[in-house]
Amino acid sequence: MNVIQLNDKIFEPFITADEIQREIRSLAKEINESYAGKKVVFVAVLNGAFMFASDLLKEITIDCEITFVKVSSYKGTATTGRVDELIGLTTKLRDRDVIIIEDIVDTGITMDKIHKIIELERPSSLKICTLLYKPAAHEGVHKPDYVGFSIPNAFVVGYGLDYDEIGRNLKEIYQVRETKSENSMLNIVLFGPPGAGKGTQSERIIEKYGLVHLSTGDIFRANIKGETELGVLAKSFIDKGQLVPDEVTIDLIKSEFKKYSNPKGFIFDGFPRTNAQAEALDAFLQSEGTAISKMLALDVEIDELKARLKKRAEVSGRADDANPDVIQNRIDVYIAETMPVKAFYQEQDKFVKINGLGSVDEITGRLFAELDKI
Ligand code: IMP
Ligand code: MG
Repeated sequence: MNVIQLNDKIFEPFITADEIQREIRSLAKEINESYAGKKVVFVAVLNGAFMFASDLLKEITIDCEITFVKVSSYKGTATTGRVDELIGLTTKLRDRDVIIIEDIVDTGITMDKIHKIIELERPSSLKICTLLYKPAAHEGVHKPDYVGFSIPNAFVVGYGLDYDEIGRNLKEIYQVRETKSENSMLNIVLFGPPGAGKGTQSERIIEKYGLVHLSTGDIFRANIKGETELGVLAKSFIDKGQLVPDEVTIDLIKSEFKKYSNPKGFIFDGFPRTNAQAEALDAFLQSEGTAISKMLALDVEIDELKARLKKRAEVSGRADDANPDVIQNRIDVYIAETMPVKAFYQEQDKFVKINGLGSVDEITGRLFAELDKI
């Protein structure tokens, strides 16, 4: 399961198709046992419950009937105000064992209305079976009797449930991803090949937006200089133009991140460099209650990069800038392992390409324009 986008929102995998089916089997077992020897009338609420009702009924082994209703509320007379009715309720429910099938009980207002109307038919028993239940949102009188999953108070789609009528066809259930406005940190991934100008531009962004700069390269180089254990390890990879292993880099980012108590946000420079790192970063930020706001990717052609790196070697004193073979290797690694990270953020609709050619000021202007939009 992957992150998906429906209209303007991003949804994250929440409940797999297998988990849904397993839970449905266990719900059906409970119902089969409680109603053994009886005949049940299921009243499924359209549209959302169509898929759940279908799969649940396949597992029901006692005698049963099913009917489908829709809740409608229309304007009655001036004195009665809004009137609720169940469209399609033609099956006689008097003195029968009735189970309402719903996809989701949220505030419970809809369920209370349905319950009230069905009670007027005087069934001998009336129970509620819902696939999903949000206890924290519930304000209703009638709590569901059979619950597939109790879930947090966040919007979900899939498996019959919709977001503005889309997403009903999904086999799985997805949960909406919190948007930036719900967490105030500005976290930027500054992306681009070696020599694209990430370091230079980071400094300017930090100054204007008050962000913390997390450059894995800078941290590694400081450690190499200090001849720390981490430095020695990192050096063995960096000098060859290779990436430091993901676990080492990810742990480093986590411990750096935790050093700041109330940051406005971070600018990640030179990280994540692989999809594994990007996934680990997402999971970590989520556990910290935040997320990446945008990836700004500086776009520079390979020939221009080589020229820039050669020039930088004259002043940077970096061994990995001086050797053309090492430069070539860094670019190869970038194309093979780092470029795919773009797609990772593209999928989340967070990827912005920035033209990396022009004067330093011009490029800064382009970056600021994007950052101001967030
Ligand atoms: P209520 O708040 O329990 O009355 O729920 C009203 C209706 O809102 C439900 O029957 C669903 O159709 C819809 N709904 C509530 N929560 C969600 C959700 O997380 N995803 C999709 N639809 C929902
Ligand atoms: Mg519904």
